[in-house]
Amino acid sequence: MRDDDGPQRRVNLRSALREAFRHALECLAADGVVAIAPDEIDGLVDQVRETADAKFGDYSGTMAMALAKRAGKKPRDVATDIARHLAAAPGFAELFESPGDPVGPGFINVRVRDDALAAAVARAVADDRMGVAAVESPQTVVVDFSSPNVAKPMHVGHIRSTVIGDAIARILRFRGHHVITDNHLGDWGTQFGMILWGWKHCRDDAAFAADPTAELGRLYRLVRKVADAKPEELASDSVAAALAAAHPEAGREVLLETAKLHEGDPENRALWEQFMPVCRAEIDRIYDRLHVTFDHWLGESFFQPMLAGVVEDLVRAGLARESRGAIGVFLGGDDEPPFLVRKADGAFLYATTDLATIRWRLEHWKPDRMLYVVDHRQGQHFEQLFETARRWGLPGLENVDLVHVAFGTVLGEDGKPFKTRAGDTVGLEALLDEGVERAAAVVGSGDEARAGMGDDERRHVAETVGIGAIKYADLSQNRTTDYVFSFDKMLQLTGNTAAYMQYAVARVEGIFLRGGIDREALRRGCSAVRLSDPKERALAIELLRFGEALEDVESDARPNVLTAWLYDLAGSYSAFYDSLSVLKAEGPDRDSRLALCDLTGRILRRGLDLLGIGTVEKM
Ligand code: ARG
Repeated sequence: MRDDDGPQRRVNLRSALREAFRHALECLAADGVVAIAPDEIDGLVDQVRETADAKFGDYSGTMAMALAKRAGKKPRDVATDIARHLAAAPGFAELFESPGDPVGPGFINVRVRDDALAAAVARAVADDRMGVAAVESPQTVVVDFSSPNVAKPMHVGHIRSTVIGDAIARILRFRGHHVITDNHLGDWGTQFGMILWGWKHCRDDAAFAADPTAELGRLYRLVRKVADAKPEELASDSVAAALAAAHPEAGREVLLETAKLHEGDPENRALWEQFMPVCRAEIDRIYDRLHVTFDHWLGESFFQPMLAGVVEDLVRAGLARESRGAIGVFLGGDDEPPFLVRKADGAFLYATTDLATIRWRLEHWKPDRMLYVVDHRQGQHFEQLFETARRWGLPGLENVDLVHVAFGTVLGEDGKPFKTRAGDTVGLEALLDEGVERAAAVVGSGDEARAGMGDDERRHVAETVGIGAIKYADLSQNRTTDYVFSFDKMLQLTGNTAAYMQYAVARVEGIFLRGGIDREALRRGCSAVRLSDPKERALAIELLRFGEALEDVESDARPNVLTAWLYDLAGSYSAFYDSLSVLKAEGPDRDSRLALCDLTGRILRRGLDLLGIGTVEKM
């Protein structure tokens, strides 16, 4: 089956059931049993969820309790009414068994019909999209993520935005949205003042010729110490100390270099143009290793020519005004800090660039939604940004969802912000190297699968497992909480880790390798699966929930919903595989079980791929 074979062939069971509940609630309201406002219905049908225990059926609706309370009726009576309308809802009976009597205080439990389930799984087996329907109304979604300040080495803090943003972009794309990813590089900030000053006062030409990235990194770190002039930092660095002694005004001069760059000074501009490709090469290397790409790289510098116009416009609109020489937007009362768009010295700010960016994206991309995957510490910035943009009245913005997809801090195992033993921030590249090195120790510890691996393959496996571990550990956290970075935990082969999930994929692959099975033929020939054992049925229903999990990731931009679901799927698969024979099964059972294995393997692999995580055949 191809994509154009029509959505009616792909069934999202939960959506279908929610639609049936919608119908039932509308009937209930029309009968005058309970008053339900039309705009309440979405919230009520969203209360149809999967059950925690299969003995209560597959899905359960819980809205009867609250509705009964408001109408002063018995919950069970209201539930019985809903269930009656549900059974008569269009399309319900084809997919679901007639709901029995409500359970407990008014739970309406629903079970998927076995024949409908078997047919849906068989269709998913033959489907490129594994049964996942695309959204009915695709949106244009801009995902602004990673966006590091270049010319400083990338550190562990950058991994969260990069990994979470990439996963969200992949998932939304698979759901059928038009996704535009944009790396809003910090390529115009004060860090360039440091490098410019360093270049003019203490560069090492030979070192730059040999390794430009390393030399710029050295200049950045050195000049930061000189400009900050903190005695404790200078005490341990004689080169910095000597420079600081020779240039007591370094801090001010660094700021001046930035200002000159912004004013268009030809020398600084030319140097900036020389430095940028070097900075790009540095971060590109990391993106290559992470397999992360972007559609656009519209960094802060791109928007510079528009900033004066933005400020003028805001002033003309009566939104921004002067205060002590600076210009700001006063969103709250006069005592609340304004959203500054121009400093007293004339310089524009992060805020100004972000406003220009919103206007530009609106004009050029016409998005329905913009997601900013950025550290939670920038929460106030985004609140003020969104509020200012709304009041600005940009045409079309009233229909755009602006969302700050915030995430917490990366902590070390001591619960403090993650640092090296020497107290420095951890460089991202060194971190990736260590992950891969540690993974090599895990995958290299030798059972028969590994004996057949050459050096190249072993390196590839270690890279896939090591990088996967780092990504998965991040993605499987609730993004809004801080998370503790632990190589030991993330590389464990059991529990909800990438290694465990990758191993699950390799186990499924192993079946087909051992059995010499032609998977294409298996998929083509699969007309129905047999679900006579409860473990087969449990696996089948889990497989059909892939689309539901992706839908839930989207609604709150939370990739951890997908990792949790994949882990559950791996559990249902293990329960199935450990108790039923597959290759040794007979006749139609064998093909049916192989089809379930095939679909499980593909969904696990695709699920990991949507998280940006690779898989291997053996590990
Ligand atoms: N460069 C910023 C930083 O490192 C993040 C930019 C996020 N994106 C945005 N449009 N503000 O903090």
